[in-house]
Parts: sequence; structure tokens; C-alpha cells
Amino acid sequence: MKEQLLKAYEEETHASFVDSLTGAYTHGIFQLLLEEEIKRSQRYHDSFTLVLIDIDSFSLYNKQQNPATGDQALKKVAELIRENIRDLDLISRYSGDVFAVILPKSNAHEAYNAMGRIRMAVESHTRGELTVSAGLASYPEEALNREKLILEAEDALAQAKGGGKNTVYFKEKEKLSVVEQEFKILIVDDDARNVKLLGAILAPFNHEIVKAYNGEEALSLMKKIDIDLVLLDIMMPRMDGYEVCRRFKKSEATRLVPIILVTALDDMEARVKGINAGADDFICKPPNRIELIARINSLLRVNKLNKKLTSIENILISMANAVEAKDVYTKGHIQRVSNMAMALGKRMGLSASEIDALRFAGILHDIGKIAIPREILNKPGPLGLEEWKIVKQHPIEAYKICLPLEKTLGPALEAIRHHHEKLDGSGYPDGLKGEDVSVLARILSVVDIFDALDTDRPYCKGMPREKTFEILHRESDEGKLDAIIVEHLIEMLSPNDLQG
Ligand SMILES: [Fe+2]
Ligand SMILES: [Fe+2]
Repeated sequence: MKEQLLKAYEEETHASFVDSLTGAYTHGIFQLLLEEEIKRSQRYHDSFTLVLIDIDSFSLYNKQQNPATGDQALKKVAELIRENIRDLDLISRYSGDVFAVILPKSNAHEAYNAMGRIRMAVESHTRGELTVSAGLASYPEEALNREKLILEAEDALAQAKGGGKNTVYFKEKEKLSVVEQEFKILIVDDDARNVKLLGAILAPFNHEIVKAYNGEEALSLMKKIDIDLVLLDIMMPRMDGYEVCRRFKKSEATRLVPIILVTALDDMEARVKGINAGADDFICKPPNRIELIARINSLLRVNKLNKKLTSIENILISMANAVEAKDVYTKGHIQRVSNMAMALGKRMGLSASEIDALRFAGILHDIGKIAIPREILNKPGPLGLEEWKIVKQHPIEAYKICLPLEKTLGPALEAIRHHHEKLDGSGYPDGLKGEDVSVLARILSVVDIFDALDTDRPYCKGMPREKTFEILHRESDEGKLDAIIVEHLIEMLSPNDLQG
């Protein structure tokens, strides 16, 4: 195709398609080649990158040296570019000291690596006398037509120059910096050819590819390796992709790992089933390279963020556990409160995010006890007035500790602060009344009281259930606790309900 094009050009214009000095294609030919590459990439759903390479401060260099030296420099740079690109890549002389390189079947990331090599080659061959800057634009990510692509590349080149020269710039750089990191991607497919194909698509990136050829293998690998993303086939013998997905999402350790279902089934039903199983995205077989990479990158970005949050969560949870260890009376209290509050929330039909908030609030509600001296926390007898004042500060202290995580915690933060409020206004720390106490705080306070009464302590046994229920009933009759929530809890814990 390329030869035909060049021949036609020569016949039509009677002009050479090659620049006599550098051996690169001329500007006219560059425009034709670019148009041709766009058509080819459109046809084959492929990607390619256009790079503009400019010799830094070339006019100054020309002034300082004689013109022949300038020409030599241009020739040398063209040569170095050619040495560092593939045979199928096309180099043209775009203008005076600017070269254009079309890199078919490449993405910006690959082109960036190639340009990095060229930049270093020029610098080292000329002992720093000459340097180059490059701007990249990739099809189809950044532009779909010739004019726009050139504009994007020119823009990127201007950025490289503005950024201090001797640099390579592309817009997607920031996005790609995420994928420049090494992630572990698990590919699960019973057909080895598909595993190979997906592996080949991901090969240009730094990711570590882990392979599994059936569901069981995938599940066991997930237990051993800290996987960042899963590409999962649906139709597999014994355990299908839906089941694998469900199990991943059920496990606390792997529920946040994004899963892309790769499937030959492009029907709605398969997608609905996949969504119900907890899949994060879908892609059809055979996968479109660009689409697949874009989806993987976006999920990896989300995963990276999730991981950050989870590590903050983990710190808070360990802190909450450490605080609990200080208090001999409350062993296991926060975990029980968290579990029971979630169960109650589910029973009452609360949304998934509210239930998640209950999980956090349960774990963190007493974290403020960190500010209470151990002697007060563990005092066997009744507390004095001053001591009691200090204890009553713990919801505010907890709130202050958790406040920087406001965005992650959402409504849990308010529930943490108000877990000792009473509906009649007799609670603390804010003395809220009725509607001002949120449902989450109400649930938390009922469960908190129940657990305090129900649990055995070092010097006294927990109350019998009937007695505990009696106290909860009395508190709700007095308008202190939410009567409906108390009923739900009692129903949930009564033996009949457990049987049913
Ligand atoms: Fe508390
Ligand atoms: Fe508590």
C-alpha cells in the first residue's frame, strides 16, 4: 500500500517523496501517509501514534556553527531516530528542524518509550550539544482525523518545549503514569489461546500477568497472590465465570478487586447475570485492544484509590482494636456491634451504602475512648462525676479522630458522634431529640446497649436475654430508644426467628 501511494505521488507531482538531506519522507508525503494510517487503523480497529520531534535551539546552533554543520546535525538526528524505531515506522521531515514519525500499531505508552530512547541517543551522541523534544498524540484516544491529530501533536510538542526542552510530552502521560506501575492482572480462561491473546495485548505494559485455566485455580491463586484486576471468562466447565465472580466479591479480602468479564455472549441477559454476580465491567470476545486497555486502566485507577482508602480503613480499624484492648470490659464489643448493626440494617431494608456505614460506625464508635485514662475505663466501681464527664467525651473524641475521613465514612461519621443520644434529649454529647437522631445512630445505640447488657464481663455475667429485652422495652416506652428498632432487634434475636 505504501509503495503504491509513493509511486502515485511521484507520477502525479513529479516531485521526490524523499528529502534529499535526511532521507526522510517529505512533508507532502507525510500528510498522505498519515491519512492512509488513519484509514488503516479505522479498518482494523487499531491504534497508532504520531510524534513530532524538534531539535532544541536549532537556529541558535545554526548561527553558532556553519550551515554545513547544521545540515550534518539534521542528518545525524534523522539517523538516530531511524536506529531507534521499528521498520514499519515512518519518518518524515515535517518542517525545517522538525521530524514527524508515525508509529503504526502502537499506543502512546509504547511511543513514549521509543521517544525516550531517541532523546537519550541524541543527547549522548552529541555529548549534550544537541537535544530534542518530542510531542505525542495517539489515534484514536486523542483525535480521529488528520488535522486534529497534527494539532494535538503540535500542542504536545509545545508543552515539551515549554517544560524545559529535552523532554517527551503527551497528554495521556498522567493517565498512563498509573499504568506505568506494575499491577498484577489475573487472566482466567479455560481456552489457552484466549489467555495467550489477552496476555499479548497487555504485554507492552509493566503488569505481571498471572494465568488460571479454570475457576478453582483462579480462586486458589487469589488467596495466595495480591491481585489487582481480573479478566474472567464466563463459559468454563465445572465452575462458570459468574460463580467465580460471586465468590471473589463475597470474600472480604478480594471484594474490591475489579473484575472484567470477557465473554462471547453479547446479550443483555449475560450482562444482567454478570452485574448480579458483582462484575465491574464487560468486554466481548475477541476483545478490541484499545477498548480493553482503556477499561483496564480505568479500573486500575479506581482500584488504586480503593487500596489507598482500604489502607486508611485498616489503620483506623487496628486503632479501634487497640483502643478496645485498653478496656477490659468490652472485649469483642466493636465487632459484635458492627455485625449486629449491619444485620439489623439489612432486616430493616436499609440501602447497601447505609449498611456499609453501619459496618464502619460499629467498628469506630468507641475509638474516642483512646482519650479516656485506663484507670477510669477499667474502674470496677461506679464512676465519680468528674470521671463520668470524661467518659461522656468519647463520642466527640471519636468524631474528631474520624473527621479527616469524612468522605469515606459518609453518614457513619454522624452515627459515631451520636451513638449515645436518646430520642427524648437525655443523651450525650449533643442532647439531640427525636428526628434529629438519624436512623443509623438509633440502630447503633440500640445495639450498643444490648451488647453492653448481654455480654459477660470479668466480674459479672451478662444479663439473661429476657431481662435485657425488658430493659430495652422500658427504654423505648420511656421514649429514649426507637421502639421499631428495638422490636426488630428482639425479633431478630428470638429463637423462633432463628429457626425461621
Ligand atoms: Fe460508646
Ligand atoms: Fe459501645
